[in-house]
Amino acid sequence: MSVTVRVPAKVNVQLAVGAARPDGFHDLANVFLAVGLYDEITVTPADELRVTCDGPDADQVPLDRTNLAARAAVALAERYGRSPDVHLHIAKDIPVAGGMAGGSADGAGALVACDALWGTGASREELLEICAELGSDVPFSLVGGAALGIGRGERLTPLEVGGTFHWVFAMAGRGLSTPAVFREFDRLGEGTDIPEPVASGELLAALAKGDPDALAAAVSNDLQPAALSLFPELAGTLAAGRAAGALTALVSGSGPTTAFLVRDPESAAAVAQALLASETCRTVRMASGPAPGATVAAAG
Ligand code: C5P
Repeated sequence: MSVTVRVPAKVNVQLAVGAARPDGFHDLANVFLAVGLYDEITVTPADELRVTCDGPDADQVPLDRTNLAARAAVALAERYGRSPDVHLHIAKDIPVAGGMAGGSADGAGALVACDALWGTGASREELLEICAELGSDVPFSLVGGAALGIGRGERLTPLEVGGTFHWVFAMAGRGLSTPAVFREFDRLGEGTDIPEPVASGELLAALAKGDPDALAAAVSNDLQPAALSLFPELAGTLAAGRAAGALTALVSGSGPTTAFLVRDPESAAAVAQALLASETCRTVRMASGPAPGATVAAAG
């Protein structure tokens, strides 16, 4: 018996960040769009909890109990009073430490896979609650599509999307730590008045219409200056993609993956090729969104 769950990556088309809260987190208005790059998590019964991983970035994935997939299995097992003795295998295609919610995807995927394997009968609300305990972006990995996340980003409202958006993603030569990027955001904002984060009406309308030009004009990421401050070379990647005809270019979440919105799959191929030729990134991927959230792909 085993269960395989497929979970998408995300790009933040808007990431509005408020001032640091007393608990150290930041209030967000976080507009997530799931895109068609996937990790697959397969769970099988085992003598003890263990995690394995394959894929291009597999050597950077922790295989101990700090892995979000392992933490998800433990959290669900504890709630249902059973042992978490499973083998979790992660087929990893989402870049590690890239700002595309790869770790969160594995947490949501393991949760859905263990839930199916164990037949817990947990409600969607219960699963979302466990996701929120695992990390701010994990609930979105479960639901996919497009959503506005407020609070830490974990309180979700699904959003309507009127078409398919095409993207190119440029992966950087090294990762960035999300807490370090938020700390840099705090440092850069010291002594300034940081407004309450609010979702942009223009951006939500552009998503609802499926209009790439309007979306390109409305995207924003308040973490981008902090990511660029820690990783100045990303400016060169953003410039190379813009010069190649991307409608807009931005850092994805806390980075360092950069995201390029394009009009259609043909322009995606042209921008991808130009980015590779610019030698300002490690590799490029094309993907479109919205993509479905965590979905059981195989069971048996
Ligand atoms: O929730 P998650 O574990 O993914 O968050 C990782 C880190 O990112 C947090 O420890 C915190 O430093 C930062 N963070 C934040 N505000 C948020 C989400 C994350 O400061 N809304």
